[in-house]
Amino acid sequence: MSQLGIILAGGRGTRLYPATLALSKQLLPVYDKPMVYYPLTTLMESGLRDLLVITTPQHQPQFQALLGSGEQWGVQLQYAAQPEPGGIAQALLLAAPFLQGRGCTLILGDNIFHGPALGQRLRAARHTAGATIFTYPVSDPQRYGVVAFGPDGRAAALLEKPPVPPSNQAVTGLYVYDGQAPALAAQLVPSARGELEITDLNAAYLRRGSLNLQRLGRGYAWLDAGTHDSLLEASAFVQTLERRQTLKIGSPEEAAYRQDWIGRGEVQRLIRQLGQGSSYAQHLQTLLDTPPELLEEEP
Ligand code: G1P
Repeated sequence: MSQLGIILAGGRGTRLYPATLALSKQLLPVYDKPMVYYPLTTLMESGLRDLLVITTPQHQPQFQALLGSGEQWGVQLQYAAQPEPGGIAQALLLAAPFLQGRGCTLILGDNIFHGPALGQRLRAARHTAGATIFTYPVSDPQRYGVVAFGPDGRAAALLEKPPVPPSNQAVTGLYVYDGQAPALAAQLVPSARGELEITDLNAAYLRRGSLNLQRLGRGYAWLDAGTHDSLLEASAFVQTLERRQTLKIGSPEEAAYRQDWIGRGEVQRLIRQLGQGSSYAQHLQTLLDTPPELLEEEP
């Protein structure tokens, strides 16, 4: 049975108030498309077609209006609600009825990834026992989960937002878990901030000797769009690349078309829905006009 892809798009987005007083953070635009398109596309590029979107109860209708059943992109989208911001690890408990013992790939709704062969790395991680986390060297590790390395260079501990970070390797919001994750998450106790911490779940895998670390190094971009500045920076990053290249970052239509989940007819229908005035729609037309052999990604 194939894995489930989970997008966690809950939370109040308090760091973005007042922009998120009435709107979900993950529906705000990052340059030319809603933020949630980026993590959704990352999951699709890894081949996952069975997807669960977790939102606050009040924002769920907006996500459903935007994303629908997923059929238009050749995927199946289901929805679950996180009534209170109970932590990232709570997503595994909410997803348990959908997982039914399967493994999953969990991605945070405000995390944007861009880089070579990430889809393949995620596919490989799904065939690795235990859990896989992806780390990224950052200048401000105290904002994130951080890896502490032992003398042998292996991960020795994981710390959530440590005031004095033991390394610059932040744990990104992209996690691959085996079928044990809901049971392990059920044993967690809430942290001082009242949340089931994903860092504690990953630490449980580490203690069992089944946590794999993958570094996203040079050539990868990892951006979180959870503050005013990081949101603007993420938009500027996407704008810079998209204006230079004829490639989109975070386009579910493109991910679906490249993998033959939808054909030309479906893309044409989506273009008509968006209308000629949208530069996003114009890009999709360019995609259709590109000879298939030029659509192949460079190795
Ligand atoms: C969360 C996790 C943290 C991780 C980060 C990635 O932080 O708790 O471990 O590094 O996502 O974006 P938060 O959403 O609380 O800032």
